[in-house]
Amino acid sequence: MPSPPEAGLRLAGTGVFLPARILTNRDLEKLVETSDEWIFTRTGIRERRIASEKETSTWMGVQAAQQALSRAKIPASALDLILVATVTPESFFPSTACRISADLGATGCPAFDLQAACSGFVYALIVADQFLRSGTARNILIVGTERLSSVVDWRDRNTCVLFGDGAGAVVLQPSPDGRGILSFDWGADGTSADLLHLHNPQSRGQATQPPATLSPDCIVMAGKEIFKQAVTAMAESAKRTLAKAGVSLSDVKCVISHQANIRIIDALAEKLKFPRERCFVNVHRYGNMSAACIPVALHEAGSEGTLQKGDKVLLVAFGGGLTWSSALLEW
Ligand code: UT7
Repeated sequence: MPSPPEAGLRLAGTGVFLPARILTNRDLEKLVETSDEWIFTRTGIRERRIASEKETSTWMGVQAAQQALSRAKIPASALDLILVATVTPESFFPSTACRISADLGATGCPAFDLQAACSGFVYALIVADQFLRSGTARNILIVGTERLSSVVDWRDRNTCVLFGDGAGAVVLQPSPDGRGILSFDWGADGTSADLLHLHNPQSRGQATQPPATLSPDCIVMAGKEIFKQAVTAMAESAKRTLAKAGVSLSDVKCVISHQANIRIIDALAEKLKFPRERCFVNVHRYGNMSAACIPVALHEAGSEGTLQKGDKVLLVAFGGGLTWSSALLEW
């Protein structure tokens, strides 16, 4: 049994997988009535990655996890918890976490999926923090993996230009020097669920009547309303997290927010009065990858040297549910 509570957590390793296939805005002009100019000015997105047939959420998650494990210099057999955040699982069960654990060779390690849409990764980080603090786990793998290209309606210009595929992973370990999550805030409001959803067409079928079609429904979003709620909820959540830690925004090196739309990132920075140049941005390259956005951004910010030991990083996310979450990390 692992030893008793330690002060915090550290990101021992991060990893990503991004499919090689790039779909540009110009490519989308051939699919729907849209333009590179509209997409870029309204969202900041230039291109997104699209998974091949073999690149399922499981497969991409495994690649990202292997990189994170290798950077953390631990074998999969050392893991004592695997959490996977995804809205695009290969199957309802087994969970993507169980599938990933099998491919990693982590048999026996508890593994489960955690679904909070685009807030999923930060939710998982908050859950993992509890296990590390209580001393019940010492090596936790979190994976955010999404294959949104298979659940968007490619005839719907309102949504198909926004999303992309990819995976990010982190290995977390206890930190003896108190770094890690300094504070967090999370919440949900199911009363606005219809604003952004992905319906399961089989969920209402009658046992004696097979569903008319096996193809899943596609993502439905009331974009304008989600935009407004995202900015407000992320700003409020970020403020609560900072207040709990007694840290002011001027002490924060970088804000890594969910990457849905550059205008949302701009509006959040403005609302928080945080310098826009200290907001991490990669939405132009990948679009919205739901639960994979923040781990991919964390990996890139860490690898590019944007973040140095001791830097304070504010993670903040918003997504379907509705859900929101934020966490203040000391790198
Ligand atoms: O991951 C969870 C969080 N998700 C988000 O945070 C997404 C939040 N929402 C958004 O990012 C934005 O609302 C969108 C990018 C989805 C839409 O931007 P908007 O500025 O709110 O545009 P709109 O929906 O008000 O549409 C404006 C116009 C409409 O035409 P009309 O009705 O004014 O004639 C749309 O039909 O733009 C049209 N439009 C497009 N035109 C060209 C919508 N999509 C497109 C498109 N290309 N792809």
